[in-house]
Order: sequence, then C-alpha cells, then structure tokens
Amino acid sequence: MRMVDVIDAKRNGGELTAEQIKFFVDGYTAGDIPDYQASALLMAIWFNGMSDEETRNLTMDMLHSGDRLDLSDIPGVKVDKHSTGGVGDKVSIPLAPLVASLGIVVPMISGRGLGHTGGTLDKLEAIPGYTVEIGEDAFKKQLRDVGCIISGATGNIAPADKKIYALRDVTDTVDSIPLIAGSIMSKKIASGTDALVMDVKTGSGAFMKREEDAVALAHALVNIGKGVGMNAMAVISDMNQPLGRAIGNALEIEESIALLKGEGPDDLLDIVLTIGSQMTVMAGKAKSLEEARGMLEENIANGKALERFRMMVEAQGGDGRVVDDPTIMPQAKYHIPVLAEADGVIASMKADEMGIASMMLGGGRATKDDKLDYAVGLTLDRKVGDTVKAGDRLLTIHANREDVEDVKRLILDNIVIGDHADPITLIHQVIV
Ligand code: URA
Repeated sequence: MRMVDVIDAKRNGGELTAEQIKFFVDGYTAGDIPDYQASALLMAIWFNGMSDEETRNLTMDMLHSGDRLDLSDIPGVKVDKHSTGGVGDKVSIPLAPLVASLGIVVPMISGRGLGHTGGTLDKLEAIPGYTVEIGEDAFKKQLRDVGCIISGATGNIAPADKKIYALRDVTDTVDSIPLIAGSIMSKKIASGTDALVMDVKTGSGAFMKREEDAVALAHALVNIGKGVGMNAMAVISDMNQPLGRAIGNALEIEESIALLKGEGPDDLLDIVLTIGSQMTVMAGKAKSLEEARGMLEENIANGKALERFRMMVEAQGGDGRVVDDPTIMPQAKYHIPVLAEADGVIASMKADEMGIASMMLGGGRATKDDKLDYAVGLTLDRKVGDTVKAGDRLLTIHANREDVEDVKRLILDNIVIGDHADPITLIHQVIV
C-alpha cells in the first residue's frame, strides 16, 4: 500500500478502507510515514470528514496502538466523565469525589490544558504534594480504598493519538469532528470505564463554537462508546462565558472546595448535579435523575462529598488541609480590580478571551513546555445578565506582576455592556 494513494482517496472525498486507516495509524506511529504525508491526510480528513465506520476504525486502531487498563477486578460499575474543555471548567474536581461519596467507582484519567482552556491535572497540582502520575497498581488500590481518582494516564495509552494530536496541533487540524471523536474515545476505551458521560462544550470558549457541530461531535462520541459496549451519553453545555466565578489553577480548586461545602456558584453546581445525576443512574444507584440529584445534594449538605475530596487528595500525596485552608496553595501578590466603564447590563463576556487573559498572567500554557503560575487568574464579580454602574467592579485580576494593563485591556475589550442580555441556557441538550 502507498500512503499517496490513501491521501488521494480522502482528498477526492472517498471513504477509506479499514486497511488504509490501519496502514496510516500503524505506519505513522512507527515512524514509517513522514509528517508531511500524515499532515496531508489529516487536512484531507478535515475538509472531507469521515463516515461513522471510518471514525470507528480510526478510534480502534489508535486504541490498539497502546495499553488498555483492565478494571474488571474492581467491583461495581465504573463511571467516568470527560469534558471537551472550557474556561473555568473545574467540574471534574468536585464531581469525582461527590459521585464517589455515593459508593460509585470513578476512575478519571484527565489531561492538561493548552491554549485558553485549563486542564484538570494542572489545577490539582496547585495543591501542595498532589501527584497525578500514578502507576496501574496504585491507581486500582486508590479506586478500591477511596472510590475515585483523578490522574494522568497510567501507562502507554493510545500513543498513536499522542503523535497524531501533536501533529494536528501544528497543522490547524484539531477542530475536526472525527479526529476529536477518535482522539477522545481511543483514550476513554483504553481507560477501562464501563460508562461515560461526556460534557461537550459549545460557544466562544469551546472547540465547537456552533451548537450543530457540538451535537454532531456528541453523537460521534456516543456512537463509538456504544459500539464497544460502553454505556455512553453526552450533555451539550454552554461555554459562551466562563463557568463559575474562578479562572486559574489554585483559584479553581478553591471554588471546587467551596462547592463541596455548599457554597458553590449556581451554574457550576447545576452542571455538577446534572452530570452527577446521570452518572448515579448509570451506576444503578438511583432509579431516576431526580432521586440521584437529591442524593448528591444530601452528600454536599452532610459533608460526605467534601470528606471524600480530602481522602482523594491525601491518597495522591496532597495536603488535605487545603480543604480547611485553601491559602496553603500559592497565592498571588497583587489583586487588581477591573471596573465597568459604562452603566448597563453585561451582554457578553467572551470565554476564550478570559481564558487568554488568565494565560497571559501565567495561569495557562502558550506552548507545551511553559511553566505554570498556580496562583494567578481571575475571579468574576459579575456575569452575563448582571446590571452594573460605571465604576462597579467587574472582576479581580490575581497577578504576580504589578503592571497588568495588557490583561486589563483585553478583558475590557471582551466584556460588552449594553442595554439587555439574551438569557444563557447552561444545559442545551442531552444526547443518549
Ligand atoms: N481532547 C482530546 O483528547 N482530543 C482532541 O482531539 C480534542 C480534545
């Protein structure tokens, strides 16, 4: 088989055979196919898409390129959650211990942030001592002892995806539905979960800016999961403004802890309870979403979820005192208010630009090797729909540099104050 014929078939809008996809995935992973030919194929896929069968074959070939975790010796239904990424999206952090506090096993293999989106692992590393690098035996032990874990991959999971993703990142081919679906699901199938709820974000801060693309991605993800016998579903949720009120690593941990103490912002709580209820029903612990929601709310109110969070942190080497005193995490030197420049209603607050503002302070990576400043970020005093007067505080910049005029300007240019705001619906759709 010749790679040029595989490129030719896709460039001309044809459907690739299972053999052609395997030839590409195996050959590129082994280093036998050069970057320029792989790039050409990825761009042809970006333009012409893939059928369901092609997407499934791509996923399975990437899955088979590496290890697969076997969790069958751990009793109970294993339920995971995955987000396609957003700004202020710390949902996984309170969700895993909250769901585990009902006796459900939650094996969460998470990722790092790149660009304007934050990564769950980076946020957790703001807790002194917390380690995300866990071997397979320790991963399983923690699932047995604590019921939940949030870590990086335990072994060599989907190395083909690692290589192809890195190439997509530099060839502007990330935002392709079949390529994203294959990338996410190859890793999720490899992680050994029985059930999975996907949080597919849509809006300015998401990969999928348009709702119809988010829905198409959600269907692709769910179809692949169901095709391998996984109980999979997706929630389409809003990412036009940041989620919650905190953006930045330590700040988002602090907000997650507040949520588990019953003091979380309403939007974050709503999405945690929505996804948590689905996970609880999938695990067979509740008969209806309403019953599940009530059980989750009870475990926030009685402190069990918070206690489970502390157990997870300590099991992963972290300092559990963070639960009582979040200031043991790195704290910023400067707290600089950003004030409204006009009277009116906040009509929009672009999530991606708020993420970039946090990144400019050092809270996110512009390149893979950048070191993070865990202390910095933004806390929002106002959100879309709130009424303000000129001079009111919109948000606070948490910085370790005194001069933040560049960040302030970017923020003010991306918060529109008008005479009305269209209401934002947080949960757009559920796809089963
Ligand atoms: N997350 C992934 O793991 N892969 C993608 O392609 C996009 C988001």
